[in-house]
Order: sequence, then C-alpha cells, then structure tokens
Amino acid sequence: MAQTAPVVAPTLEEFESAHINVAQVAIQTPVLHSHYLSQLIGQEVFLKCENLQRTGAYKLRGAFNRMSKLTAAERKKGVVAASAGNHAQGVALAAKKLGIKATIFMPVGASLPKFQATQNYGASVVLEGAVFAETLKAAQEYAAKKGAIFIPPYDNIDVVTGQGTVGLEIIDQVPNVQTILVAIGGGGLAAGVAVAAKLKAAKQGRKINVIGVQSENAASYVPSIKSGKPVEISTKRTIADGIAVAKPGRIPFELIEKYLDKVVTVSEDEIAKALVVVLERSKQVVEPAGVVAVAALMSGAVKPKGVTVAVLSGGNIDPLLMQKIIGYGLAASERYTTISVMLPDRPGQLVKTAQAIAAAQGNVVEVLHTRHGEGLEIGEVELRLSVETMGHEHRDRVIQALKDAGLKPRIAAG
Ligand SMILES: Cc1ncc(COP(=O)(O)O)c(C=O)c1O
Repeated sequence: MAQTAPVVAPTLEEFESAHINVAQVAIQTPVLHSHYLSQLIGQEVFLKCENLQRTGAYKLRGAFNRMSKLTAAERKKGVVAASAGNHAQGVALAAKKLGIKATIFMPVGASLPKFQATQNYGASVVLEGAVFAETLKAAQEYAAKKGAIFIPPYDNIDVVTGQGTVGLEIIDQVPNVQTILVAIGGGGLAAGVAVAAKLKAAKQGRKINVIGVQSENAASYVPSIKSGKPVEISTKRTIADGIAVAKPGRIPFELIEKYLDKVVTVSEDEIAKALVVVLERSKQVVEPAGVVAVAALMSGAVKPKGVTVAVLSGGNIDPLLMQKIIGYGLAASERYTTISVMLPDRPGQLVKTAQAIAAAQGNVVEVLHTRHGEGLEIGEVELRLSVETMGHEHRDRVIQALKDAGLKPRIAAG
C-alpha cells in the first residue's frame, strides 16, 4: 500500500507571508477584554472576534490563501466548494476578489441568510443533497466533470496556513497570552492557530498552550487522538452545526496531534449558556460553533493558566435560531423556568399562586391554565407558569415560596 508522507508544518515565514496575502481581503479583527469571564475564571480573558471578520467568520482567510495560489490556467477553470455556511461565504468572497467564477453546493434547506449572502458575493449556488455527504459528492462530481478546482474547507495545507493567521494576530494583539482556546470541526482553524501561535511565541522565547474545543455531540478528535489516526464517528445533532464533522481531516489531524495541548468537549447547554453570556456581557453576536471556546471556560472543562484568549470563530446565525437558543440558554442558566402547579378548580387559586411568586420577586411571563391534561383528576386544574428568575438560587426561592403557600410546584422545563 502506498504510504502517505507525513504532514510538514508550515514555517513562521510561511504564516507571515500568508498573513500579508490574506490582508488583501480579511481585516485584523479586534480583541475584547471580558471582565465577566476574567472574574469568573480568575484569569484575564480576551475574546478574538472573528465573528466580526468579513463574511462573519475566519473561513475567508484559508479560502483566500488557497485560491490566491491557483495558476492563471486554474483560475480560468473556476472553483467549486461544498458548504452549509461559513466556508461557502469565504470561498465566494475570495473568488470575487480574485476574479474567479465560484460554484457553491449547499444542502437543500441551508439557512436563507447564508444562502443569500453567498449569492450576494456573486457565487452560483446549487442546492443539492438532503445531508451534507450528498452535497459534497455532488460538488466533487461537478469538479470532476467541469474541471473546476475543488476548495476543501480544512484538509489542505494552504487552507490551514491561512486560518493560522488568526494565531499570529493573537500574539500581536495580546503579547502576554499564555493559553488560546479554539473550536475544532475538521481541524483547520485549530491546527493553523496552534502551529502559527506556538512558532511566533517560540521566536519570542515563550511557550504557550493551545486547547481545542469540540461539541460533545460531534467530538471526532477524542477517539482519533486516542487511536493515533482520524476515526469516523456518527455525530449526534448539535446546535454547533458549523463544527459537526464526523472525521478529522488528515492534514489538520497530524498537526493537532503534534501541536495541540489538549482537546475538550462541551455540552449543548454549555454552548447555549455561553452564547447568552457573550451576547449579554460582551455585546457580540456569535453562532453556536463560534462560542464553544467560551463554553469550555465557563463549564470548567478548561482551567487555563495565565492570560487567556478564546477565539469567537464565527457570527453567522439565523435570527430565528438565535431566538430559540437564547430561550434555551436562559433556561439552562435557570433564568427562565416553566413551573407546573396542580390546583383545586376553585376561584382564588390563580391569585394565590401569582402572589407567592410575586412575593419571591419572580416575574411571570406566560401562563397556561388548563382543565385537561395528563395526570389531572376531576376537579383539578394545571397551571403552567413561565417564570423569569435571576439564576439557580432565586429559582429555588420561588419554588419554596409556592410550597410555603401550601402548593405543590413541579419544574416542568428549564
Ligand atoms: C464558526 C466556526 N468555528 C469553527 C469551525 C471549525 O473549523 P475547522 O473545520 O477548521 O476545524 C467552523 C467550521 O466551519 C466554523 O464555521
């Protein structure tokens, strides 16, 4: 069997030249200090805001770096990519900038804002495939038939080098950084950031830690690192759809194995809570895949040493999904709870319940009063109240106030 040569990591000079190259289209995104997260974890925490990058994600860097290396003959053939979101927009804008025709395959049912943004950058969008594997297959077949150049989302050394320019900027913008946390899907971003930031810090005579974060519902790197090769897993649904990748890319995997200090995972609740914190405290709109680094800090999955930078890798989120996740995140933070109380069907019971909640300073935002429901006896009604609270302790006080009023509350959701 033919052996594949081991992956050679890009040099610092290669990252630096990619940085100059990528600057033709990508901005140096700002870094924000987070007082809230710094207090929470007892270390200074900064956020690298790639959610504010052009196209709303860092993906543009890798796509542009790869595409700028195409020969004139290759450019004439056009490029093709398969993506449900951020890579699509990155390839589309890079193609526009370089004057290359781009055809992007997206799954049927791709979110409307991402579809429209990709089209607005001038790409032709083809909706094909109910699941991403079918979309990818269609894009590869198109590339083979038309001779167009396929631009991979992560498994390509020029893509990895382009994504690594985020790491160079972090070292410039936060010179005393000791730990960087970054999301992993296929691994292009984490591989690039780890190699670039470590090479640059080493040149300054320093060592830094880089930690990768995956959704626990799509954590392909965990078994892969254990077995020393990319392992395919069956992913579960995750709100962090941007990083739901079933198998690590070969190139990023080899670099991550060598250069990353650790890979941790976060749950759906933790991602939703982090999204709410970043929105509320730092005023940043971030998509679920883009906030997993913050989720790992908040959950305690990582206890970083020294000054820490969490990469907010993308901000492309459908407003309707955002609305749902905010509700979910508030419930996960116990700031929004649905309480069910069974009451005798007599006048005055609703008032009694509302008074008990009000006395404990709970704020009722929704009420459902029904005579028909599971477990209800004749002569009984169920009252379901959605109550806004200030967190765990306050929720307990509201429940206690209901019990003190002689009622039997049950947490129905949240
Ligand atoms: C917002 C966001 N963060 C992180 C990632 C992870 O990227 P990678 O596949 O390079 O690991 C993606 C991938 O598309 C993404 O869209």
